Amino acid sequence: METIIEFENVNVSFSMREGTVKAVRDVSLSIPKGKVTALVGESGSGKSTLASTLLRMVSAPGKISAKSIQVDGQDVMAMSEKKLRHYRWSEVSMVFQAAQNSLNPVVTIGEQFIETYQAHRKESDKKVIEKRAIELLEYVKLEPKRVLRSYPHELSGGMKQRVMIAFSLLLEPKVVILDEPTTALDVITQDSIFSILQKINDEFGITLLLLSHDIAVVAKVADYLGVMYAGKIVEFDEIYTIFEQPKHPYTQGLLRAVPSLIHDLGKIKPIPGASPNLLDLPSGCPFHPRCEYAMSHCKTIEPELKRSKDGYIPACHLFDHERKEAALTK
Ligand SMILES: Nc1ncnc2c1ncn2[C@@H]1O[C@H](COP(=O)(O)OP(=O)(O)O)[C@@H](O)[C@H]1O
Ligand SMILES: [Mg+2]
Repeated sequence: METIIEFENVNVSFSMREGTVKAVRDVSLSIPKGKVTALVGESGSGKSTLASTLLRMVSAPGKISAKSIQVDGQDVMAMSEKKLRHYRWSEVSMVFQAAQNSLNPVVTIGEQFIETYQAHRKESDKKVIEKRAIELLEYVKLEPKRVLRSYPHELSGGMKQRVMIAFSLLLEPKVVILDEPTTALDVITQDSIFSILQKINDEFGITLLLLSHDIAVVAKVADYLGVMYAGKIVEFDEIYTIFEQPKHPYTQGLLRAVPSLIHDLGKIKPIPGASPNLLDLPSGCPFHPRCEYAMSHCKTIEPELKRSKDGYIPACHLFDHERKEAALTK
């Protein structure tokens, strides 16, 4: 399997008065090239923070430390500021959560295309940029002439999200990250956004990384699925395999909690307990207080996601036989 992103021992912490929040805890993960990978998990599990490390751009006061963060063979952690400025948008672009609201309200979409382009490339001919903008707007199924003249408030939420997707493609990046791309959009608009994303992946071979708290929504387009809990990836596999047989008890819980995936509505079961407090994580496996399978060593030893010859073994003692035996014989 060819990969394009390699996270190696990635940590992000936010030091605050109340203490230090470890939002991403020692993540090592490879993301397949040219595929759609979704990262899912409850709000606060670290999805946005982990993805923003690919741009080396976490919000203040966040600090990244990592052995390396490679994108297509380049180590983002080793780049100079100058190199980073070129790399962002050109190699990896990110549509942030609720990005529609970040469009400048007093500037037309056409002008914003030109500004974005010129901020990254030395192209002064506005006609060239406009031609590219028209192509992209057609691609995301918007009427280019009208949209280029429009101010953001003249467009619906779904149209603005498509504009953001068009922006993200402007400099032909290899990887596009979309953070909660359809949250707050109605179901029909969600579907049309996903069919655009599918097309971008199929036709341009761009690697997409989708972040969502909703496993059912991303299931429509993702090829691979990573599940995050308390700053760690706890399971990673082809989405088909995970839906067929979720392994980590948290993943099982996520799938049992989704109405649209459960035919018998009487069987919907929310995950008991509350999301963990990142300032004071439970000992051992941070999921143990909510886990119906928790064993005594789950309270003391934190399981790690492990690479195996054909993928990953979930970060759960139920699947980590070597360690389980070592713990039991102690
Ligand atoms: N700017 C920030 N300042 C302080 N803490 C933050 C900041 N951004 C994120 N965090 C912490 O990191 C955790 C993970 O956040 P985030 O990556 O946004 O999660 P997700 O995208 O899964 O909802 C949050 O629970 C929060 O505690
Ligand atoms: Mg987020």
